[in-house]
Amino acid sequence: MIAPYEVENYQECFRETHVWDTNWKVLAENFMESYHLPVCHADTVGGHSKLEEMDCPPGLKAFNYHWITKEASLPMGNAHPDNTRLTGHWRKTTALITLYPSHLITLTPGYFWYLSLHPKGPGQVAITFGGGLSPEFMADPKAGEFVATLKTLLDEVNLEDRGCTEKVYRGLSADKAVPGHLSYLERPIYDFMQYIAERTAGFERSFAQAAE
Ligand SMILES: [Fe+2]
Repeated sequence: MIAPYEVENYQECFRETHVWDTNWKVLAENFMESYHLPVCHADTVGGHSKLEEMDCPPGLKAFNYHWITKEASLPMGNAHPDNTRLTGHWRKTTALITLYPSHLITLTPGYFWYLSLHPKGPGQVAITFGGGLSPEFMADPKAGEFVATLKTLLDEVNLEDRGCTEKVYRGLSADKAVPGHLSYLERPIYDFMQYIAERTAGFERSFAQAAE
């Protein structure tokens, strides 16, 4: 599904570990929907995100995913001019992939980043956070600048997600917290919940014929 990116040639430029005071599933779910972008990330990547740019197909057995197709706020979010591998809409499509249960990947035509979650208990999670650039951006004379810009942006985005997910966890822990309905833009969360229910409560998942 993501073969055109040829992610095997992307280069990791940074990797670090952080500990956040939230539940790992809250953080995973946060990653699985992108309608929080315009609100939670209003100061960074959310400014131009629109709900109609988001496509949330049904998940598969071991992962779920959704797509955002848009003009990127960073040059690296769209394909580099030297990138002749990606054509048409792929040049501006971002894939957001969750490999169950705890590996969250953002893959764009120019860069990738990921969070690997390692729960330390119900209310705390260690996060391995890494990212880097596609070969075309790495080969660009301005590669160093691109890496620095990307790292600065992702640090800010993480800070925003940390604030949101720590607050959500505190809210969920309140006596009067009750579950709500999911939106169609939370389809990947629905799939994740079914995965969790299968692993913890014997729920049997079913899948439509996988798309070719
Ligand atoms: Fe976020």
